[in-house]
Amino acid sequence: MGRLALTGGGKMIADERRLRSRWKTANMDEALREYTGAKFVQMTNSGTGALISCLLAAGIGPGDEVITVAYTWTATVGAILRVNAVPVFADIDPQTLTIDVADVRRKITPQTKAILPVDFYGHPAPIPELMAVAHEHHLFVIEDACQASTAEIDGQKVGSIADMTAFSFSGKPIYTTYGGGGAYLTNDRKLFERGLLGGQHPTLIAGVAQDPDVLKYASMGGTGDNFRNVPNDGMMQLLDADARTNARIANCDYLTSQLEDVPGITTPYVRPGYKHVYHYYTCLWDPDVHDVSRDRFCEALNAEGLFVVAYLKDANYRFTPDSKPIAAGGPIHLRTIFRERNLYGKGCPFQCPHVKNPPVYAKGDLPVSEAMADREFCIGQPDLSPPCDDRDMRVIVDTITKVIDNIDELR
Ligand SMILES: Cc1ncc(COP(=O)(O)O)c(C=O)c1O
Repeated sequence: MGRLALTGGGKMIADERRLRSRWKTANMDEALREYTGAKFVQMTNSGTGALISCLLAAGIGPGDEVITVAYTWTATVGAILRVNAVPVFADIDPQTLTIDVADVRRKITPQTKAILPVDFYGHPAPIPELMAVAHEHHLFVIEDACQASTAEIDGQKVGSIADMTAFSFSGKPIYTTYGGGGAYLTNDRKLFERGLLGGQHPTLIAGVAQDPDVLKYASMGGTGDNFRNVPNDGMMQLLDADARTNARIANCDYLTSQLEDVPGITTPYVRPGYKHVYHYYTCLWDPDVHDVSRDRFCEALNAEGLFVVAYLKDANYRFTPDSKPIAAGGPIHLRTIFRERNLYGKGCPFQCPHVKNPPVYAKGDLPVSEAMADREFCIGQPDLSPPCDDRDMRVIVDTITKVIDNIDELR
């Protein structure tokens, strides 16, 4: 067997073998770097963990304002609350359902530290415009691309465009079969290293970071949270993420070609140069055209066996067909936490001594978000992605057509 490796002999286990068998997540870091073009990637336990890491990396905390949307999944805003910062909501563009840049400009104050746009339903937010606004006002742009990890703007993958980007891998365009995981991505080494303090293992921080201001907190694992990834098969799914996304886009394009002239329905808009990856296929319903409410229309589709949800509000809002529907509550600013403004029972983070102007959140604040939440209905990725093909899309179209043809029965 020869001498010990420690005293100059050969190794029993080659480095490549150890890498392959043990450090699967490190391989995915590398693969995501290559896939997106981002210089630095850190795998996390979830998209929420990734968002919190980004906010901490940007140094955001009590009294700081983060401009985001209320038209999103709860975790976007939950991450801001988790670092004790103040969410300030901008309205959305009625076509793309992503943040309205003009409203972002109106919401900037001396307390604003970051803009946190969301690539909602898989359509990228206007990141290049937001980067320009951020540059003018010395703000960070943290992109919540949790629903859009394969999307592009002008041929560039999301993940390499904003200052920092968060991905989720639970049932998203890039996914893991265990149903969890996330990552944050950036081109900035300093932000990458500071994000590690959000909840990576002390030894990983010590192994990766170079900045003495980061390394001095390594032994505590930073803030004491645990956002560590677990080994998973995301790497395998990444290999065919583009093929799967493109097949889903082809299915959705077919739906649009068949539904765009149906009275009462507005099919999804795709901004030129933007790659919408359809985490959901989201249409708008006009209740006046047939004198039938959106919720009644959704009820009829669901009775036919087509699983549609009004993601932001009520009609049939449930995670899976067999879970129990709940009232989702509308855009985030209308939910209980924002009425009470009393997280932890002590007023933080809305009304703590660091907050210059305690925010008030009210119905009517975000007219477009509120109106769209009453009109949208969504079909989820599982019914749009391979192996579903145009035969399945035909069934969706026929089901919607059947309900429209018999709309009189719903009045
Ligand atoms: C827009 C958005 N942001 C953040 C998240 C959080 O991701 P995760 O569930 O992996 O924590 C999600 C998850 O659905 C999401 O849709």
